[in-house]
Amino acid sequence: MTVTIAGVGAALPSAVLGNDHFAPLDTSHEWIVKRTGIHTRHWLGPGETLADLAEQASREALADAGRSAHEIDHVVVSTVTPDRVTPGIAPELATRLGAPGPPALDLNAACAGFLYALDYGCALIETGRAHCVLVCAAEALSRITDRTDRSTAVLFGDAAGAVVLSSTGADGSERPRFLLGSDGRHTDLLYADLEDRVLRMSGREVYEFAVDTMAGQTRKVLAECGLTTADIDCFIGHQANVRILRAVAAALDIPQARSQISIDKVGNTSSASIPFALWQARGAGRLRPGDRIVMAAFGAGFVWGAGVIRWKATPNTAVQTQEETCPT
Ligand code: ACO
Repeated sequence: MTVTIAGVGAALPSAVLGNDHFAPLDTSHEWIVKRTGIHTRHWLGPGETLADLAEQASREALADAGRSAHEIDHVVVSTVTPDRVTPGIAPELATRLGAPGPPALDLNAACAGFLYALDYGCALIETGRAHCVLVCAAEALSRITDRTDRSTAVLFGDAAGAVVLSSTGADGSERPRFLLGSDGRHTDLLYADLEDRVLRMSGREVYEFAVDTMAGQTRKVLAECGLTTADIDCFIGHQANVRILRAVAAALDIPQARSQISIDKVGNTSSASIPFALWQARGAGRLRPGDRIVMAAFGAGFVWGAGVIRWKATPNTAVQTQEETCPT
């Protein structure tokens, strides 16, 4: 049974912060734009919760997919910043949506969490254990940002993005494929510990690792699928820095028009960044049914992932030749 992304949704908190907000930290709009590509970001305000954003994004994804909450048979939420230590957001989200008590869990794979959640959701459908999976990524990085540290305070934002995964009802078409990995030797380069609970980062080292890993893993997953970058309709990388995204696109020879950038308006929203960018691509009319979307992410751990999946594929979506079909 093969799987497609059937719908997407996104949500942002109401408060928008421009770069001028950080002027007291001895930084400038020009520095931030030039080094990161970020113009604005949204932070949760008083009374707003991540569950609110997750619900809004998920409702939109369900509507876009033409599915009802009663059809959801599994809910996965990727987050490093849940509303409470426990319980996670997923059970509350399922209940808010009116889903009839499906399995619901939160997952933490830092900025790569959405791809881990997608892989999990696809596996459930491919093995026949689910037919419709809601995958949401909801993050409030403002909760773990040191607002006095200019090297990190300017980078992060809050957002939620959600997709509905569903079976295409066809066995012969191209399967999604994800490559995931980790290397725990680098925990000290990017972490938030229990004592001060804010992100600490060696920016330059993380930058270099991010470019090499996202480009390398994307190349590898494409090769495993018998594809080349020419077969990519839309590339969505984790939105950590516009220079990282441009370097990855250049390394892979992906034209700018096929690489989605959303960091300018929302900053780095950790695992929510890929579904948010997907939502923007859909809104901009850049996606057609059956398009092949390629995604890549990396994050604290280090953890990473790259994958290929079709957008709104149907049983009639063109089947690849045998050589081009992803291995099972
Ligand atoms: N304004 C002005 N100057 C600044 C600022 C700022 N906001 N931040 C840092 N600087 C200064 C530094 O102090 C340094 O000054 P110095 O040369 O006098 O020592 C200078 O700018 C250069 O610093 P670099 O760190 O080398 O700057 P760089 O060009 O690498 O940009 C950045 C820094 C934006 C953090 C970049 O390294 C980056 O994007 N790294 C990757 C971030 C990332 O991907 N994080 C992972 C995701 S986070 C997560 O997983 C939740």
